[in-house]
Amino acid sequence: MTLLALDRVSRVYAGHRGLFGRARPVRAVDEVSLVLDAGRTLGVVGESGCGKSTTGRIALGLEPPDSGSVRFEGAALPPPNTAAWRRQRARMQLVFQDPLAALDRRLTVAAQIAEPLAIHGIGSGADRAERVAQLLADVGLRPDLGRRHPHELSGGQRQRAVLARALATDPVLLVCDEPVSALDVSIQAQVVNMLLDLQAARGIAMLFISHDLKVVRQVSHEVAVMYLGRVVEQGPADMLFAEPVHPYTQALVSAIPTPGPRRAARIVLAGDPPNPAARPPGCAFHPRCPVAIARCASETPALGHAQDGRLVACHLAATQAPTGIAA
Ligand SMILES: Nc1ncnc2c1ncn2[C@@H]1O[C@H](COP(=O)(O)OP(=O)(O)O)[C@@H](O)[C@H]1O
Ligand SMILES: [Mg+2]
Repeated sequence: MTLLALDRVSRVYAGHRGLFGRARPVRAVDEVSLVLDAGRTLGVVGESGCGKSTTGRIALGLEPPDSGSVRFEGAALPPPNTAAWRRQRARMQLVFQDPLAALDRRLTVAAQIAEPLAIHGIGSGADRAERVAQLLADVGLRPDLGRRHPHELSGGQRQRAVLARALATDPVLLVCDEPVSALDVSIQAQVVNMLLDLQAARGIAMLFISHDLKVVRQVSHEVAVMYLGRVVEQGPADMLFAEPVHPYTQALVSAIPTPGPRRAARIVLAGDPPNPAARPPGCAFHPRCPVAIARCASETPALGHAQDGRLVACHLAATQAPTGIAA
């Protein structure tokens, strides 16, 4: 069942003005379509500035798209700050990279986990204390940590506390924006495993945003690869990681550290890292693409179905125009 559907959403920012010259608009998100089924995880990957966070905020209705639409549980998102919007917000929660910024330094962890219960009028006082204790256990935090303040916890414990609070309202969707990127690698694995356990136990769907393909591969059923605001390849995670079609995906996958001898040569991309304020014409990836042809510099490739069903935006991949997204 489709839980979340983004249909050709775009978002343009005014952009910063340099010392000289005029501000150039930034196409942060450009005609992005995504579909996430209930209980599944859609990974969104790409380098910094490619529009992942903006896509996440649009999905949650925290930011309106300039064009395109978002449907959640079959309906358009209600206008922000209405009662319907607040009800809906309880069903979709955001977890982002910096747990200290997400938490209130003055409140104990238990008080913060109880907060959404009070806001949404879930349970009585005694029920809430019980629920908070259960949520702490669900995210693997000792009960006594509930009495501490955020700065008294480790980074991993703080992110668990943020998750406990996000889970308090029983959401069906978590948008996780770089949720483990600030954590040590050993702690990352623990938090990732906890997310997988929570998903299995509660059937939550996740929009999992990260620049780290290794982490995305661990959690995702489907993956969308973004480059300068556009999706360049999308499909089942196992397929995409085993046989990436787009040259950009190929380069990203080749750079994933893998132990052992079975390792393809790493593709090192030429040229400058992508600059959202100076989007190259044609295929935005063409200046760095090892196989680009003349057409790539002038004509933007549409996202089309490759033979195996996945979506690819590349002139050099044999694709057919998609028949439209299922919503
Ligand atoms: N609120 C904003 N105002 C102006 N520009 C923004 C804003 N948010 C994001 N951008 C710009 O949009 C582009 C995409 O940003 P973002 O979605 O944060 O990418 P990512 O999460 O992939 O790093 C970047 O160039 C960024 O500077
Ligand atoms: Mg981001």
